[in-house]
Amino acid sequence: MKVAILGTGYVGLSTGVALAEIGHHVCCIDVDEKKIARLKQGKSPIYEPGLEELLVKNLAAGRLRFTTSHREGISGAEIVILAVGTPQSNDGAADLTYLEQAARDVAVHLQQDTIVVIKSTVPVGTNDKMKQLIEAYCSEDVSIQIVSNPEFLRQGSAMKDTLEADRIIIGCDDRKAGDKVRELYRPLNVPVVMTSLRSAEMIKYASNAFLAMKISFINGMANVCEAVGADILDVAKGMGMDKRIGNSFLQAGIGYGGSCFPKDVQALYHTTKQHNVDFGLLGETMELNEQQRVLLVKKAFERFNGKIAGKKIAMLGLAFKPETDDMREAPSIPISLELTRQGADVIAYDPVATSNAQKILGNRIAYAKTIQEAVAGADAVLIVTEWDEIKQLEPSKLVEDMNEAIIFDGRNCLNEEKIRSCSKIEYYPVGRPAIIKYAGK
Ligand SMILES: NC(=O)c1ccc[n+]([C@@H]2O[C@H](COP(=O)([O-])OP(=O)(O)OC[C@H]3O[C@@H](n4cnc5c(N)ncnc54)[C@H](O)[C@@H]3O)[C@@H](O)[C@H]2O)c1
Repeated sequence: MKVAILGTGYVGLSTGVALAEIGHHVCCIDVDEKKIARLKQGKSPIYEPGLEELLVKNLAAGRLRFTTSHREGISGAEIVILAVGTPQSNDGAADLTYLEQAARDVAVHLQQDTIVVIKSTVPVGTNDKMKQLIEAYCSEDVSIQIVSNPEFLRQGSAMKDTLEADRIIIGCDDRKAGDKVRELYRPLNVPVVMTSLRSAEMIKYASNAFLAMKISFINGMANVCEAVGADILDVAKGMGMDKRIGNSFLQAGIGYGGSCFPKDVQALYHTTKQHNVDFGLLGETMELNEQQRVLLVKKAFERFNGKIAGKKIAMLGLAFKPETDDMREAPSIPISLELTRQGADVIAYDPVATSNAQKILGNRIAYAKTIQEAVAGADAVLIVTEWDEIKQLEPSKLVEDMNEAIIFDGRNCLNEEKIRSCSKIEYYPVGRPAIIKYAGK
């Protein structure tokens, strides 16, 4: 099929590459000229494992094109997919400005009957509104069918998640249009749920809110475990073996971040308020997460008896999670702001997110090129993102050049046995008993 995609972010680009990989002819459109120039050369503007290889392969095969021209990109497309951003607006609702603009961009260039698929995460009722908007701006006598097809990929495994999704949700009022979108994805051999537009829109929010709630729940449990002397790893293992609970998303840590969970829970909460539905659990989920994001600062404050000013703190990891360079809503941001507000000197290391972090944190903190450079002379290490190279660190080596051998592990990712074999260390995980082999200076 001939497909056009508006937006070459994490979702639009992964979808475009995946659809080309399964044999469709895809044109990806973006208003960002720099991005498109890079993509035309086969270079991915985002860090996503496996994406660039498939990008190069499908460009060479002639199944994938990139343009900044909506007219050129949409021309002849049977299906147009909207995958532009829907960030959070000031009142917590989803900001639909980009989507509305994208819908107008499509409308004015449509020259044939077309199925418009909305892949962006949007509040219930948005697909209906976009249909009206496109019809209002359509210059030609063409018919539009709208299909809601929310995306569930995770950054860091976007290609794999797109090609091997758990399910594909297709929401439509027009069955023929829905069937055509089902046909688009058929080569992926993924289970499909066909539903109404509104249910499809809601499935996305319900899924993200549930996962965020699961994270906040286990983090809340971790805090209780710490208070009563239980170990959250054992508690989560025991809980997760119950098939009704499942063991994923039960890793206690310093909260969720990224471009989806925070804004999606907030947007759903906003919807509940608009409709006078009492759903306090969503508010609690967000509140717990806010507290958890600065848990390591609280722990450091207590350990240093409130005297953080002048301490050199090494922060390992900046990205909101491993395998991505995305800094949106990363816990490293509030941690950096709070530590520096209290007068600490923060030096951070991340294998890929440093330049994105610099755009947000500027020179408020320093940036190291290696882990060794970050930890040299540090009074404490904060583990913020569980990159493989951080997980595999030898704790005895890590603390060698530190001023004080104090580690706050926000992801419970260092090897416990290796920690125990250190002769001098203070190790503070989340929701687990601390290991203290040395009382510091
Ligand atoms: N990132 C994720 O992990 C993820 C997962 C599932 C769903 N989603 C949802 O998918 C949507 C897109 O997310 P993303 O992370 O890919 O966004 P993004 O911000 O990475 O990319 C959006 C892209 O759209 C482009 N754009 C904006 N207006 C345009 C227009 N009129 N025409 C063409 N291009 C335009 C921007 O330049 C940008 O490159 C959001 O609604 C998000 O909530 C994201």
